[in-house]
Amino acid sequence: MSSQTVANFLKVIATRRTIYKLQPQLPAGVTTKDIQAVVEAIIKDTPTAFNSQVNRAIILTGESHKKVWDAVTNGIDAEAGKLRPASARDEAFGSIIFFTDDKTTEKLQADFPAWAAAFPQFADHSSGAAQITSWDALEVLGLGAHLQHYNPLVRAALPADVPKGWSVHSQLVFGLPAEAAGEKTFIDNKVQIFQ
Ligand SMILES: Cc1cc2nc3c(=O)[nH]c(=O)nc-3n(C[C@H](O)[C@H](O)[C@H](O)COP(=O)(O)O)c2cc1C
Repeated sequence: MSSQTVANFLKVIATRRTIYKLQPQLPAGVTTKDIQAVVEAIIKDTPTAFNSQVNRAIILTGESHKKVWDAVTNGIDAEAGKLRPASARDEAFGSIIFFTDDKTTEKLQADFPAWAAAFPQFADHSSGAAQITSWDALEVLGLGAHLQHYNPLVRAALPADVPKGWSVHSQLVFGLPAEAAGEKTFIDNKVQIFQ
């Protein structure tokens, strides 16, 4: 791998940011099917414990997206708490819902009892990897996105044919970016080499 390839890879990682202000559109030349293909590829190639392939995802757009975010908004009592899900409903184009499949985790626990306690956490790790790589890819496609965790409210409002045995991990809300990312500060966080 050339140093330019690594630099490009790192640039993608650094350029992915939280963008809350969105418009309910896709960039010119990008379709929902493109996003589907990218997320499928990421889920296929994201490593999972014992290659269990525990990750699942769906993409909500149109009425499905609006219905879920309307339910989340209505499920929150505090007016201030409604603002974020209402903005997802009204300003985003869609959302990717990330899940892990409980049956897959339970089978690992049955097959490898010595590791049973670790498998839910391994599913979390793998889901996180798929979520953040997908977020990176949306950035490359010219989309803005933010990551949310209204998991129980989202679960209750999902289309009926989403399997009940899939646990919701997060919602990656996306659309056309309508603002630049905010300022971000960093700690001094060196990775030491020990020899
Ligand atoms: C695991 C994880 C959980 C997060 N949960 C939320 C969330 O529930 N709501 C939200 O608005 N942002 C959430 N974020 C976004 C972070 O606040 C954001 O990534 C962080 O402040 C760094 O900013 P950046 O995304 O612009 O780099 C989450 C990010 C990560 C990685």
